[in-house]
Amino acid sequence: MEEEKTTLLLEGATPSILPIPSEIDEHFGRGPGSKGLREVFHNSVMTGSRTRSVLLLHHILSNSYFPEGSIRILDGLGASGIRARRWLTELPKEQSQRLDVHVCDMLPESLDWVNKNTERFNLDSQITLIQGDLRSRVLEGGWHWIDVDPYGSPIQFLDPVIQALSRDAILEVTATDTAALTGSSKGPTMRRYGAFVRTDKWAHDSGLRVLMANIARIAARHDRSVKPLLSVWESHHLRVSVAVTKSKQGASSVEKNIGWRIINPTSEELQSSIDAGLHSHGCPESSQPFCFLPFRHPVNHKDRRVSGPLWTGPLASNEVLSSFNLEAAERLCLPDSESLSSWGFPSNQHDSLIEQSRRSLTRSILRFSEEAKVDPSSSLLIVDRLHPHIPLLGPPSPSKLAEALTESGHPSCVSSYPNPAILTSAPWNIIYDLALEVSTASLQS
Ligand SMILES: C[S@@+](CC[C@H](N)C(=O)[O-])C[C@H]1O[C@@H](n2cnc3c(N)ncnc32)[C@H](O)[C@@H]1O
Repeated sequence: MEEEKTTLLLEGATPSILPIPSEIDEHFGRGPGSKGLREVFHNSVMTGSRTRSVLLLHHILSNSYFPEGSIRILDGLGASGIRARRWLTELPKEQSQRLDVHVCDMLPESLDWVNKNTERFNLDSQITLIQGDLRSRVLEGGWHWIDVDPYGSPIQFLDPVIQALSRDAILEVTATDTAALTGSSKGPTMRRYGAFVRTDKWAHDSGLRVLMANIARIAARHDRSVKPLLSVWESHHLRVSVAVTKSKQGASSVEKNIGWRIINPTSEELQSSIDAGLHSHGCPESSQPFCFLPFRHPVNHKDRRVSGPLWTGPLASNEVLSSFNLEAAERLCLPDSESLSSWGFPSNQHDSLIEQSRRSLTRSILRFSEEAKVDPSSSLLIVDRLHPHIPLLGPPSPSKLAEALTESGHPSCVSSYPNPAILTSAPWNIIYDLALEVSTASLQS
């Protein structure tokens, strides 16, 4: 029998064999993936998302979030099972041994590739394969952790998946229907997410908040409350990770974190936002880029300044952000030369493979440790949207502005959000003065 042609790949510290694509897709590796071209889906653009999944699981297990014993964990839309295999390969032994890992996929060919990889690379732990539709197969329940990484929108999976979580659980959700979540396809934004989103420089932040609000509201229907752990916009996808806890009381107060974003708010709107505890910058009389308003505040749905309903609370946990540091990441997610040899990587490629993993790792956690030092209710201020609220001749450097604000006693940082932005909770009059100072100094130098 002719041997199947495969390619050997490294991601983080985990090897994979995958079928060679039947034709070259010029978008492969950059766009949403190569659905029809390989027998099993694989998209290297999602490497960072899988790295963060390893780091989040490591953080949660290191902090005794779950009671002692085995952790039932499901890679719900697993494809080649690379995410699950990374959990098992990269976590320290004492953690990976606790994992009872399942991979679900509708396609038997995908699960064949999970098998081929576990056999080839001798994983110590077993992976249980579930072939079928996640929406029905997940309901056997009791999952401590579920990852949902669909083609397009995750909305169809959320209700069954949330019902199937254990009392205290973690849910990670990817969405690649970014056009819907960011309001550029208005029909799907309303149809799928019951929201409208203004297409502006905050649109991806609004998209993350619309997704978070949907998860929180579905969880509330099942007597569960959510706590955001991490929210990331990267390339073509949005992804949120939440802790989900069974709590009628928590579920009933879901509305506390749901509301509206208003661009160019009036002073009355700013005052309402301040009164609701949603605006740390004060100064209601000053023109400011945006504010959040609580869900019950009357908003005109025809007003183009409005996005929502969306999550108005913090999008991440500072403990999680601070655990995403390079030292921890390198310890877990970089391979050693001995392992690379045992997996079949030629020794003359080891240095460049390790370097490639290191670069990808650094990119995937860039700025999180700094974000951990700022107030979780900080606003995302896009620097080229400070004008006309501040009469600037050019946008200030985000790093210089964040530094100046921090020196003035208001911890601030450059945001990991891809558009140049800072995170700050400083009073608006201080942001105003320092932005002018930083911008003028840079024009003079
Ligand atoms: C975007 S890929 C997942 C990628 C994977 N998580 C990774 O990190 O490489 C989506 C996968 O979901 C599978 N799938 C699509 N709909 C499904 C469903 N309703 N139930 C189970 N699997 C499904 C597809 O066969 C495909 O392998």
